[in-house]
Formats: sequence, structure tokens, C-alpha cells
Amino acid sequence: MSDSSNNPPGQNTQWGGRFSEATDAFVQVFTASVDFDQKMAEQDINGSIAHASMLAEVGVLTGEEKTAIIEGLEAIRQEIRNGEFPWSVALEDVHMNIEARLTQRIGVTGKKLHTGRSRNDQVATDIRLYLRDAIDGILAQLTRLQAGLVELAQREADTIMPGFTHLQTAQPVTFGHHMLAWNEMLQRDYERLVDCRKRVNRMPLGSAALAGTTYPIDRSITARLLGFDSLCENSLDGVSDRDFAIEFCAAAALCMTHLSRFSEELVLWASAQFDFVDLPDRFCTGSSIMPQKKNPDVPELVRGKTGRVNGHLISLLTLMKGQCLAYNKDNQEDKEPLFDTVETLFNCLRAYADMMPALEVKADRMREAARRGFSTATDLADYLVKKGVPFRDSHEVVGKAVAFGLQQGRDLAELSLAELQQFSAQIGDDVFLVLTLEGSVNARDHRGGTAPGQVRAAAQRARDLLSARS
Ligand code: ARG
Repeated sequence: MSDSSNNPPGQNTQWGGRFSEATDAFVQVFTASVDFDQKMAEQDINGSIAHASMLAEVGVLTGEEKTAIIEGLEAIRQEIRNGEFPWSVALEDVHMNIEARLTQRIGVTGKKLHTGRSRNDQVATDIRLYLRDAIDGILAQLTRLQAGLVELAQREADTIMPGFTHLQTAQPVTFGHHMLAWNEMLQRDYERLVDCRKRVNRMPLGSAALAGTTYPIDRSITARLLGFDSLCENSLDGVSDRDFAIEFCAAAALCMTHLSRFSEELVLWASAQFDFVDLPDRFCTGSSIMPQKKNPDVPELVRGKTGRVNGHLISLLTLMKGQCLAYNKDNQEDKEPLFDTVETLFNCLRAYADMMPALEVKADRMREAARRGFSTATDLADYLVKKGVPFRDSHEVVGKAVAFGLQQGRDLAELSLAELQQFSAQIGDDVFLVLTLEGSVNARDHRGGTAPGQVRAAAQRARDLLSARS
């Protein structure tokens, strides 16, 4: 490395000027972040190219200097992509590794790149660029998964299953309706991430170390080159707060929580006891000891991974809460939780988007379960209300009819008219229209209800929302 200073041997070439001894070997490793922040190398290079271009435009660098810097950085980008870049822990982080390498490659001009900026605004810019790309990738996976769910909902709009409260059979619903409930949750997750992206996409570059810089920078140039929507308006805030990352982790934790709930249902539904669905073999694994086993690993793992994402949210909140303005080294600890959140959420969404269209729906089994669970008891109560019985009384009457059915081992629809009339003289033979599963779901025929026609219309609206996404 070209080092014209008289630094102590082994001292950092980027900031060693005021030091009289080299960094302790363990401290060097302890304080380094290059092992994980090299993930932001592309963003770091893009940020540096924009910064150098802006410096040339305002006359701080010459056109030749700018060109040499950009060519050098592009060559470094190739080295990194080819896995040939000599990463060094002694150079602490991705920023100093790349800058030092630039100077090594292009000579003294490389040392001018850092004019008018600091690693503090550099790293804040890199994370935002990284997270912006990450959000876009996640949104694409969310869209794939939602499209699969809406498709499934459309296909299974007439398929009847028991709906549950307290995991006890409550009322019949359609499987399509259930899938659209999942889609609603994901739709909100999508909206949250789109909203969060607006606050991620603001540029801290130009904040320099904390107070701004004495050079005649033009931040609007760098913002335009890097595709930022706007600028961080205060330099102290720009280098310091990581609320955009916390906000992303909160949205990610919610999305994972939704996926975890879906997972819990799939695990139950795939069990021999429920047997509502079959997960394709390629999404399951076997047991090394029990030959009969087919385990729903993907949903289980997604449910499990929700724990670490929720944990990362707490890590970042806790990381931030004690920090005075402006930048503190604490913030180096933002990266691992953030990166892991991004990767975990992306992978879970991808696995789900691949898996859902291949789900085998066992309509007969679901129908049977709905039929056995007195799921139309509320329909009988509503029927009596429509005949003039006050709701509390009709509730009581139907409770007694259910108790009788339980004793007999028969569902309400399997009782004879005479048997039903023991409980209320208001019951006529039109009662069987409401006691059937179809009658029950068809009767919930309003926006947001489970009637197959409503499910088809809701699926169409969901599909329209998906196709309106750019
Ligand atoms: N690696 C550091 C981080 O991730 C870069 C910023 C360091 N700034 C400093 N003044 N030491 O936050």
C-alpha cells in the first residue's frame, strides 16, 4: 500500500496520523466490520462514484481525477465480483478497504475521493441504498406470493371448510375466503414496506462527519445520481439515526408474524388429524428413524425463523435508545441484524411463493370436518330470529338441539323435522335450507363475507390491486 506518512508500523493508513502506537491486534479484529459490511460493497462503490462526479461538477476535482477515480472503482467492482478483492481486517470496514485499494491502483488521486465526506455519512448512505434494493426484492416476492394466494382463492371459492374460533369448529367458510384473509395481511405488509421505503430513500450524503462540510458540495447532484427521492435535512440526524432500519425491521417482524401464523395453520392442516391439505414432497423432509414420516419443514422453519426477526427488531431498538447525537460506533452493530432480517424475510417469502401454488387442497376432508362440527348452529339461531324469536332465546333453543345431536352422534342437518321441532315450534321444513353447509356460506353474501360469489369478487379486486403494481 502506498503510504507516505511516518505512521508506526502496522498502523492504519487511513487514520493513523495522530497515533503513536499501532492498534492492539485483538482490538483491530474486535472493532472491524469488514467481514459483514462487505455485503454493501456495490452500494459503497456507487456512492463513491456519485460523490466523485459531484465533486468534479462543483470544481473540487478535475475531470481527469474524476475519470481516474471512476475507472479505478469500476475495476475494483470487478475484482469484488470475481472474488479476487484482497479484503483486509486491518482496514476495518468495507469503506476503507475500497478506498485504500483505489489508492493502491490509481495512486495519489485515490486519496482525494474522501474530500468533503466522512465514513459517517458514507455508511449511512450505503445502508440506505442496500435497504432500498432489499425492499424492492422483498416486494417482488410478496407480489408473487399474493398472486399465488389470490389464484388459489379463485380456484377454491366454492370449497367448504370449517372456520374456527378458539380452534373449535365455529361456522363454515370457504377455503378461498381463508386464503384471501392471508392475502389481506400480506397486502398490508406490502403497503407498510412501500411506505417505509419512502423514508429509507432519503440521502444523508453531505452530512459529512456530523456538521456538514466546508466544500461547495451540491447534494442535489449526488441525490439524483443515486436515485434518492430527497435529502436528509439535518446533518446530525443524517449520520446518526437508524430509525429507517428499525421501521423496516418492524414491518419485517409483522410480515414474518403473518407467515408464522400461516405456518401454524399449514402444520395443523397437514397433520393426519386434520388432513386438510397435502404439501408437495419437495417442500417436506422425512425422519431418519420413523419411515412413515413426512414433515412440513418449510412452514415449521418459517415459524421458527420469525423468532430471530422479532429479536432483530428489539436489538435495533435497544441499540439506538441510549445514543446521544451524532454518530457513535454503536451504529456499526446495526448491520448484522438488518442484513439477517432482509435475508430471512426474503427467503421465507420465496419459499412460500414457491410452495403455495403447489398445495393440494383436500376438499372432501374439509367438508366432512365442517359437517361434523355443528358448524351451522348459528344459522339455525338466525333462522329462528327471522321467525320472530328473540336472539337470546333462539341461542338457548339451538344449544339444546346441539346437546341432543351430540347425544345422538348426529349433526343438526341430520336430525328430522320432528326432532328439531321438539326445541321450537317455529321450525318449519325450510330449515334444511339453512342447515346445509352451502346454505350457510351462501347466506353470508355481503362484501367481506364468505359466500362464494363474494369470494370471487374479492379475489378479482385483489388481482386488480396486484396488476396495478408497477
Ligand atoms: N464501520 C463503521 C460503521 O459501520 C463506519 C463508520 C465509522 N465511523 C467512524 N467515525 N468510526 O458504522
